[in-house]
Amino acid sequence: MKLTKLAASLAIAALAGFSTHTFAAVDADAAQALFKKNKCNTCHDVDKVKKGPSLKSIAAKYKGKADGQATIVKAITTGPKVKTPDGEEEHKILDSKDAGAQKNLADWVLAQ
Ligand code: HEC
Repeated sequence: MKLTKLAASLAIAALAGFSTHTFAAVDADAAQALFKKNKCNTCHDVDKVKKGPSLKSIAAKYKGKADGQATIVKAITTGPKVKTPDGEEEHKILDSKDAGAQKNLADWVLAQ
């Protein structure tokens, strides 16, 4: 009887955890809108290599890494020097200072 109760509360906890996660899922529309507004698409495509790497290859590099989201946020908010096909330049800085929007965009990149 006790065990059944334990199993039931574990199941409820698991469900609750799952639904919280679903609620915090990536807002793809908002991410894409920000991506386009900032003209990230002039250098990045989902599959194709343009001046910058494809989003799929960026996602593959950082997916499952504990600091993946933070690394991407840093890459798009601090203007690091990046290698381009014809040299080096400062990376574009995202126009949004909203941490939630920045993280959402990073999560969207990771989901490609
Ligand atoms: C002028 C072209 C250009 C624009 C515009 C641009 N990027 Fe980039 N991006 C690059 C290049 C080039 C790199 C570096 C590739 C490398 O180091 O291999 C890069 C790197 C990145 C990385 C890091 C990849 C890594 O491996 O660490 C992310 C994430 C990224 N860009 C996202 C964005 C987002 C989001 C935007 C829009 C705010 C954007 N980029 C706008 C060219 C661009």
